[in-house]
Amino acid sequence: MAFTNFIATASMALFFLLLLLVPSSKCMDLESHYRHKVPRSDVDLLEFPLNLEYFEAELFLYASLGYGLDKVAPNLTMGGPSPIGARAANLGPLIKDIILQFALQEVGHLKAIKTTVKGFPRPLLNLSAASFAKVMDNAFGHALKPPFDPYANEINFLLASYLVPYVGLTGYVGANPKLQGSVSKRLVAGLLGVESGQDAVIRALLYERAAWEVKPYGITVAEFTDRMSELRNKLGHDGLKDEGLVVPLHLGAEGKIKGNVLAGDKYSISYDRTPEEILRIVYGSGDESVPGGFYPKGGNGHIARSHLRWM
Ligand SMILES: *[C@@H]1O[C@H](CO)[C@@H](O)[C@H](O)[C@H]1NC(C)=O
Ligand SMILES: *[C@@H]1O[C@H](CO)[C@@H](O)[C@H](O)[C@H]1NC(C)=O
Repeated sequence: MAFTNFIATASMALFFLLLLLVPSSKCMDLESHYRHKVPRSDVDLLEFPLNLEYFEAELFLYASLGYGLDKVAPNLTMGGPSPIGARAANLGPLIKDIILQFALQEVGHLKAIKTTVKGFPRPLLNLSAASFAKVMDNAFGHALKPPFDPYANEINFLLASYLVPYVGLTGYVGANPKLQGSVSKRLVAGLLGVESGQDAVIRALLYERAAWEVKPYGITVAEFTDRMSELRNKLGHDGLKDEGLVVPLHLGAEGKIKGNVLAGDKYSISYDRTPEEILRIVYGSGDESVPGGFYPKGGNGHIARSHLRWM
């Protein structure tokens, strides 16, 4: 008995000694350590949001710096094609500073996901002004003249940004109850926290300007948000999960207020969306098997590709 204890203690000591002697590639150890803690069933759910994180990183990097991941963090693209049509937006110093912070936060999010799961290459993204103009035309049911250009000025860029972190947020809320592992849950809660923060900043900046008329359309900021939210509800095909900045009384918090700086359900709990609902929205097609819009060739990863078997 004493002898086996001795053997056990000695081999433990040897094991720790070896650990000290082999400090090689701590980073790799950490990565594989994390990957082992992610149940197989969580992997696709953690990888899927990379589609949106790539979109956000590129849009915000280009808007604030005039270039994107190819220059800032080429490894993170894993060789995926460069985005189409993204460019620097015409922003004043405050908004530019905020958007650059968002951009770098998205770079962090890409890294966080990829140290937990393997991930996949950047999908082809169409971030051209025409791509956003098409969304706005669909939101209003007719072509805006001149076509909406997200990069033209601050208010246009904030309106275009209204399209972005909110969709990510609903996806993280939707993914959370399906996750099994604690590492996965911690990651998604952390991503959700910052995505919701970004959404809140964008909505607050827009709310301050809710009654402004967007030039040259003569349409208020509030109406723009309302139309974009309506379009997302329509494309998502799963009821009301998106609300503009000013809503009918019954949709406000406790059914008692029209101002709607943050969107939430009747208990002011964030809405959730499935990956399929998100694909229907970001493809602009209302169908997860018909790519287009910001993703001309569809999203990447198992979930998005599983709906595109024919491609
Ligand atoms: C990124 O690429 C550079 C050069 O190819 C390499 O030195 C670096 O380790 C890579 N970083 C990561 C996080 O993969
Ligand atoms: C990008 O989107 C615009 C608007 O839908 C479209 O006209 C253009 O052809 C797209 N570019 C590519 C390469 O898909």
